[in-house]
Amino acid sequence: MRCLVTGGTGFLGSVLVRRLRERGHDVTVASRSRGQDVTRIRTLEPSFRDAEAVFHLAALVQSRPGPFLKVNVDGLRNVLELARRHRVARMVHVSSFTIFGPSGGGIHTEERIPERTEFFHGYDQSKYEAFRLASRWKQRLPMNTVFPTVVYGPGPMTEGNLLVRLLRRWKKLRVAALPGRGAPCWNFVYVDDVAEALVRCLDADPGENFVLGGENRTLRDLHAAFRRVSEVPIIPLGLPDGWFRAGARLEDWSARLRGISPLLVPSTAEFFLQNWRFSSGKARTHLGYSARSLEEGLSSTNRWMGS
Ligand SMILES: NC(=O)c1ccc[n+]([C@@H]2O[C@H](COP(=O)([O-])OP(=O)(O)OC[C@H]3O[C@@H](n4cnc5c(N)ncnc54)[C@H](OP(=O)(O)O)[C@@H]3O)[C@@H](O)[C@H]2O)c1
Repeated sequence: MRCLVTGGTGFLGSVLVRRLRERGHDVTVASRSRGQDVTRIRTLEPSFRDAEAVFHLAALVQSRPGPFLKVNVDGLRNVLELARRHRVARMVHVSSFTIFGPSGGGIHTEERIPERTEFFHGYDQSKYEAFRLASRWKQRLPMNTVFPTVVYGPGPMTEGNLLVRLLRRWKKLRVAALPGRGAPCWNFVYVDDVAEALVRCLDADPGENFVLGGENRTLRDLHAAFRRVSEVPIIPLGLPDGWFRAGARLEDWSARLRGISPLLVPSTAEFFLQNWRFSSGKARTHLGYSARSLEEGLSSTNRWMGS
């Protein structure tokens, strides 16, 4: 199939592009670094001319403030409009686990997506608005929306690959600062597993939404598993919430001084302190999706990271 991947130069996008090509698909990539900007429809239109399937991944993914609504919502609107105009046979919209908000004591599934009015950050607000926009387009386009959870693994070290940036720091400092004393429970998914599920969406029933996650594990568990697979004696440092928030302010300030992108800033620190538990049961049933264990994924990631 002739596939267009917006955001195909990014962390998840580059793994998806590789997988589609391995399966014999003809792939075109659209991203700013290739001359296409989703906020400028004229730069995008030529990429849609022959596209039979469109995977929309392009998004502004960063902790610093930025034009999130413009890129992630208006950009999606442009992509949907072009997909309709060029009568693409298949559209896969990559949303995010963040649109659900924290799971508290429960487990999120795609069957119940909470109405939200409060957000932590411009990113999660824009992904939520983008999801609502895509939902309104479901009647007009044969589309699936997927919600990957916290994606990690080998690939470009963009801000999207947050977990590997964090693991690198743990390995270098030999200390793992654990928010909420390590109690928050997140859902971690290996990048190749998400890419495989995206390819499988080409044969899914249009209109369906899928959570694409792996295991629900606490940050304390994540540390223990990474320490085991890396065989590096990383000391866990469970931080009370107040200390972690103060650390985020320090990180923000020090990254500004060094001119680098921070791992966290005060608004994203709030994400770290929450539970984000998910079930991918529907993707398993409908797509034949399977996700590797955290230990297996961390082990491959650690080999790729080197010493
Ligand atoms: N990483 C995760 O844990 C995670 C979890 C859930 C959902 N997601 C979603 O998965 C998608 C990919 O995320 P990622 O982690 O791969 O992020 P990423 O590495 O930052 O990739 C973002 C991609 O979007 C492109 N892009 C950004 N602004 C653009 C614009 N204005 N016009 C065209 N292209 C633009 C970037 O390329 P240029 O810089 O060259 O433009 C890059 O190819 C996003 O939609 C994200 O919300 C990610």
